[in-house]
Amino acid sequence: MTSRTVLITGAGIGIGRATATAFGRAGYRVMVTDILEDEGRSVAEAICASGGTAEFRHLDVTSSAACDAAVRDIEHRFGGIDCIVNNAGIAHKVPLGELSDEKWDRTFDIDLKGMMRLVRAAAPGMKAARSGSIVCLSSIMGVAYGWDEHVHYSAAKSGVVGLVRGLAVELASSGIRVNGVAPGYIRTAQALSEEHSLGPAGLEAAASFIPMGRVGEPEDIADVIVFLASDAARYLTGQTITVDGGLLVGRY
Ligand SMILES: NC(=O)c1ccc[n+]([C@@H]2O[C@H](COP(=O)([O-])OP(=O)(O)OC[C@H]3O[C@@H](n4cnc5c(N)ncnc54)[C@H](O)[C@@H]3O)[C@@H](O)[C@H]2O)c1
Repeated sequence: MTSRTVLITGAGIGIGRATATAFGRAGYRVMVTDILEDEGRSVAEAICASGGTAEFRHLDVTSSAACDAAVRDIEHRFGGIDCIVNNAGIAHKVPLGELSDEKWDRTFDIDLKGMMRLVRAAAPGMKAARSGSIVCLSSIMGVAYGWDEHVHYSAAKSGVVGLVRGLAVELASSGIRVNGVAPGYIRTAQALSEEHSLGPAGLEAAASFIPMGRVGEPEDIADVIVFLASDAARYLTGQTITVDGGLLVGRY
């Protein structure tokens, strides 16, 4: 029986897709949202084909109007939103000398402000229900490492940690929990990009200095997100959990 509704941003591929699939398996009604129409639709179809409940909705997190409308529509049709996973993100490689205001703003608009937009829209409904859970994707590049030629990304992902803390305190008395996940090196399009990140060879090389001896898979992150959203994490709020196979604690 479908009891809870989760909205996931950027859920057509990568960590978002794995997260949508994991929530589907856990019995949630999954609102798969993305700017990637075909990918998002196929994720929703796959969840339904395996007995779950899901639908796709186009959602660009840079639009306040679209975020507001998505939340209103879901609340109207299903009685509320139980969980939001703020996953959508971009990580473009831009050396400082080429980091225009527009490029900086674009990353912040998606990676940080987009998260605030959805929480702002959903908070009144969650407050009325006196229940809700929000999970935001940071990065090891936001909690510990500096990433050269990605300072806008590192800054935005550090901002996610502050967003999580501030929201957690502001919303705790309303029964709403807010947490973050900071993934290490995860095998997705983002990390596999030669242009913007490690690329396939760089990712495989990273496995040699990760204590657990392997790069992460999207499912490794998805399962932690589902845990943070669940009642098993009922006393946990304001934290950003690093999920990196021991990378940060193992490098010295
Ligand atoms: N892969 C990694 O190693 C890694 C490490 C640390 C953090 N992360 C973070 O995890 C999250 C997911 O990363 P991923 O590796 O799956 O990335 P990905 O590039 O595979 O997927 C990102 C998703 O975000 C969506 N998106 C981009 N702009 C959007 C917009 N304006 N509105 C709505 N959706 C938009 C994309 O369409 C895509 O579905 C991101 O926030 C990323 O920064 C990833």
